[in-house]
Amino acid sequence: MALDRFGRNIHYLRISLTDHCNLRCIYCMPEDQTFRPNADLLQDDEILTLTRLFASLGFDKIRLTGGEPTVRANIVGIVRGIASTPGIRSLSMTTNGILLTRLAQPLKEAGLQRVNISIDTLDNDKFRRLTRWGKLEDVWKGILSAEQAGLTPVKLNAVVVKGYNEEDVIDLAALTIDRPWQMRYIEMMPFAGVTDIQTQQIVTAAQIQQKIESEFGPLEATGKYDGEARIYRIRGGKGELGFISSVTVPFCSACTRARLTADGVLRMCLLREKEIDLLTPMRNGASTDDLRALILDGVWHKPWGHGLDEGLIPLNRAMNQIGG
Ligand code: 5AD
Ligand code: SF4
Repeated sequence: MALDRFGRNIHYLRISLTDHCNLRCIYCMPEDQTFRPNADLLQDDEILTLTRLFASLGFDKIRLTGGEPTVRANIVGIVRGIASTPGIRSLSMTTNGILLTRLAQPLKEAGLQRVNISIDTLDNDKFRRLTRWGKLEDVWKGILSAEQAGLTPVKLNAVVVKGYNEEDVIDLAALTIDRPWQMRYIEMMPFAGVTDIQTQQIVTAAQIQQKIESEFGPLEATGKYDGEARIYRIRGGKGELGFISSVTVPFCSACTRARLTADGVLRMCLLREKEIDLLTPMRNGASTDDLRALILDGVWHKPWGHGLDEGLIPLNRAMNQIGG
């Protein structure tokens, strides 16, 4: 078991497979974002070596992120390797959904259990404005493919941006009336690259909830949390709504996460700059015990929480370079 100095049991690893993406969401990266050459990224065997190492330290839950994880070559093989690693009980992915029409079934067969798919609006034009390059129809087909393949329960993520999609939270919520889906609303967080939009156009979880309740009446609180999301229902609805208030009401005391970036550094808090390089020592021949010691030391010193309240914004990486 990997404990930090505050007694939190850190057992959930989010692995970013690439910083590349087939979209350019305005809240994630500038349109002219540059990406790392593949040689700088963790190779397939390095990912599996680190997965085994983390599993041996008690990590049992893995989520694959990006950039966009499905644009990584051999994604199905990587999923198969991680899924068959002893000790890994839960394996999921956060994706923009575009490539799922082709990949949902093979990923499920390789051992992926669930996906979270990003969809910020049901309006074609607004979707294009928010993602710069995306076509809503592709994502919608991806969601249906995921459901059909049994990558369930289907969970959808929307980042809400003032002036772009704050009205659209209502149509998205309505999806959960007839479908057993979980629609999650995420407060926009600030990083390098597009900090202005992120700090000036945030819509808080409380404002989002208010907007939804103005349409559907008071939501039913389930009292449940799903990870960081507070879970509600529209009365009589088949699905659920989740609110993720990372900025206004952080959930740091219950955090069990660590992140491995695509270039192989361990990041113990999404919103703190401190990083522990694992790839360089690994390539320089560090032993399993050396690497284990580096990870345990990183976990032990996991920061208590973020410093957004004090104006501390992590500026050493854009969102796609960390993995959401
Ligand atoms: N704040 C919050 N969430 C973000 N995402 C991307 N950029 C941000 C941001 N600035 C989300 C995506 C996706 C996940 C990978 O992270 O919408 O759901
Ligand atoms: Fe790509 Fe996700 Fe970033 Fe959008 S939010 S640009 S889909 S990595």
